Amino acid sequence: MTRNDEVETQLPGMDAASIAVKPGPTGRPQRAFPVPAPLAQHGPAKIIALCNQKGGVGKTTTSINLGASLAEYGRRVLAVDFDPQGALSAGLGARTHDATTIYDLLLNRHADVQEAIQSTSTPGLDIIPANIDLSAAEVHLVNEVAREQILAGVLRKVANDYDVILVDCQPSLGILTVNALTASHGVLIPLECEYFALRGVALLIETIDKVRERLNPAIELDGILATMYDSRTLHSREVLERVVDAFGDRVLETVISRTVKFPDASVAATPITQFAPEHQAAEAYRQLARELVFRGAVA
Ligand SMILES: Nc1ncnc2c1ncn2[C@@H]1O[C@H](COP(=O)(O)OP(=O)(O)O)[C@@H](O)[C@H]1O
Ligand SMILES: [Mg+2]
Repeated sequence: MTRNDEVETQLPGMDAASIAVKPGPTGRPQRAFPVPAPLAQHGPAKIIALCNQKGGVGKTTTSINLGASLAEYGRRVLAVDFDPQGALSAGLGARTHDATTIYDLLLNRHADVQEAIQSTSTPGLDIIPANIDLSAAEVHLVNEVAREQILAGVLRKVANDYDVILVDCQPSLGILTVNALTASHGVLIPLECEYFALRGVALLIETIDKVRERLNPAIELDGILATMYDSRTLHSREVLERVVDAFGDRVLETVISRTVKFPDASVAATPITQFAPEHQAAEAYRQLARELVFRGAVA
């Protein structure tokens, strides 16, 4: 029985009674998912890769704000910066110089993972940072034994300390992303509500399928998250409609709207849940966290 079934059988008629329903932008009812119950114990972590080989679709923003929202709900969260651009590290105010980074952990199997972990301004949300050094990893890993499994080996050492590990991937389907997919139980695909958003998603799903066949039979698609949605434009609505036509239930009910609060929060190096806690964008990421718990994608 999945967690989803469980909740639905425990709460019959939940749609009508306990969950407020309004028509959502995905064309399905948008439910206000319940606040998750506190966890009695922590770990082992569910590892989720945030993946899309297109840049600028909201991978990093989602890693930061989903991580912060899950932490608000009492989950222990580790965010892993897996992009040499280091945007996740910057967005969470992590040190990237004179710091142990994910690159050190990949290249040196004796490096101490605990030493790489930094806390953030959000209680319960930790980070392993990255910097531009990581761009050399692709080249170095080519000659490694079991090169696709190196991140999995690193994360295994700390999985029991967390409930969720979010891996913020770089915009490519190279060896780093394959490492992330090999290490993960689930994938979350942020998709910008723009024309051509669907381009490349077939290739991404094919890559996930290959990783499932060859390296990680357990990997699942946890959901496709529509981002940068602008309800005022027909364009955004049409794109979202096509995404739902193509992917059905795999599209999450939660939709992230376009707002300048995100770039503003990035500059402040804090999650939006802290920068503008009452803003509808902060609430949208809390809703995403609640939806993922409700679906059983995270504990
Ligand atoms: N919902 C949104 N509305 C407006 N701007 C956003 C939104 N989500 C992200 N951004 C901004 O868009 C840019 C790209 O987002 P980012 O999360 O870094 O994408 P990716 O990690 O996929 O490259 C960043 O400047 C970010 O602040
Ligand atoms: Mg990014």
